[in-house]
Amino acid sequence: MEKIVSLCKRRGFIFQSSEIYGGLSNTWDYGPFGVELKNNVKRSWWKSVVYERDDIFGIDAAILMHPKVWEASGHVENFYDLKSDCKSCRKRHKTADLKDKNKCPECGGQLTEARPFNLMYKTHHGPVEDAGNLIYLRPETAQGMFVNFLNILDTKHPKLPFGMAQIGKAFRNEITPGNFTFRTREFEQMEVEYFVRPDEADKMLEEWIEYRFKWYLGLGLKKENLRKRPHSKDELAHYAKSCTDIEYNFPFGWSELEGIANRTDFDLRQHSNASGKELKYFDDATKEKFYPYIIEPSGGVDRSVLAFLTDAYFEEKVHPVRDRTPKVPDGCLRQPVSNGVKDDMRVVLKLDKDLAPVKVAVLPLLRNRPEIVELAKKLAADLKKCFITVYDDTGAIGKLYRRQDEVGTLFCVTVDVQSLEDKQVTVRDRDTMQQERIGIDSTKKYLTEKLGTVL
Ligand code: GAP
Repeated sequence: MEKIVSLCKRRGFIFQSSEIYGGLSNTWDYGPFGVELKNNVKRSWWKSVVYERDDIFGIDAAILMHPKVWEASGHVENFYDLKSDCKSCRKRHKTADLKDKNKCPECGGQLTEARPFNLMYKTHHGPVEDAGNLIYLRPETAQGMFVNFLNILDTKHPKLPFGMAQIGKAFRNEITPGNFTFRTREFEQMEVEYFVRPDEADKMLEEWIEYRFKWYLGLGLKKENLRKRPHSKDELAHYAKSCTDIEYNFPFGWSELEGIANRTDFDLRQHSNASGKELKYFDDATKEKFYPYIIEPSGGVDRSVLAFLTDAYFEEKVHPVRDRTPKVPDGCLRQPVSNGVKDDMRVVLKLDKDLAPVKVAVLPLLRNRPEIVELAKKLAADLKKCFITVYDDTGAIGKLYRRQDEVGTLFCVTVDVQSLEDKQVTVRDRDTMQQERIGIDSTKKYLTEKLGTVL
């Protein structure tokens, strides 16, 4: 995990939050490549659950909600972890993580009895800070969809089964956050609430487990690093009848990426009782009115990003000359260009083409030759209209390749002296490091064929 953390900082994927003040523990900021990767994960999820289907509607509900939402949902009463405090060093522990429930794992001191600790962040709504204005930062995006159930029925008139999808921030005052961005107190969720006939819930749950599992595989996670793990009864959240986690084999062990739960009609009933508005579905054909069951695939954006980064990370030996030397037309190699890299290893992120933050880099072989720089900049400007493209002339070619490999750039296009005469450039493939000499005018066509439609 240290290598991933180090790469993330070195290349501008993820920084510690408020670092100039010493950092705020377990909070992270996404840098220029991190935000692109994260947006690509979210876009791919949205495409899969909204655009490629006819039965799911996207929404973007407010983070701040009426406090009664969290009473009705059961979070005020049930959304807690048990904590135990050390009487000597005062460190607070999540009781479930303790091997010995009486002894502090840090200093061996005696622990207090386990006490519940509600995970919801509290704040006040409006200028008066009293109990009457107490509200919560949402601990899940799901409730924003349940409270909009009638709005979707009234505006979209959907037939069962149908769903809602939302991506957004959630907040939990976790007792023991950690493992980089895996468990934090502020994170983003990607959730679907899928409303089904109660007698179809078990079948739909299985379908959603498969659908979501395939999404991770389709974006390149290795099969051997993914598994499904059904929850035992004592692990289930207060609202769930059953749940299966999709887990990833992180460097710190198998851990949850996403949970797919059968929430039954718990939420719609609870909100109906608490609000006085009947959140039922009327079936025109059978004339029945009933509470649908809810199947909920609920994933974490940050955890997915961490899994994609981990899975894509490779250290590889490269040929000492070939990779830093653009091909000339007859296929021979030019004299090696000094690359400023001490050894011949490369770190490469083999991210899926939809996820890679940068698709193409245009690199001039000689930055002190204005004609080459001009041609390269012109090509980059042209490619930017079609693909996320960067121009870089801040180092020797070997160094530039290494840098692009580290952020997962799919293709490097090198403009050299020969390009001025033969109007050709060298295109290098990130994964194979194979180089091809192609006409400048056909670069866009060539890349379109290679990349297909990227998100
Ligand atoms: N609405 C259901 C729900 O919130 P959950 O299993 O508590 O279920 C769903 O959370 C997903 O949200 C998890 O699978 C995980 O990916 C992400 N998640 C939960 N807590 C997190 C945390 N503290 N830090 C980062 N991601 C978290």
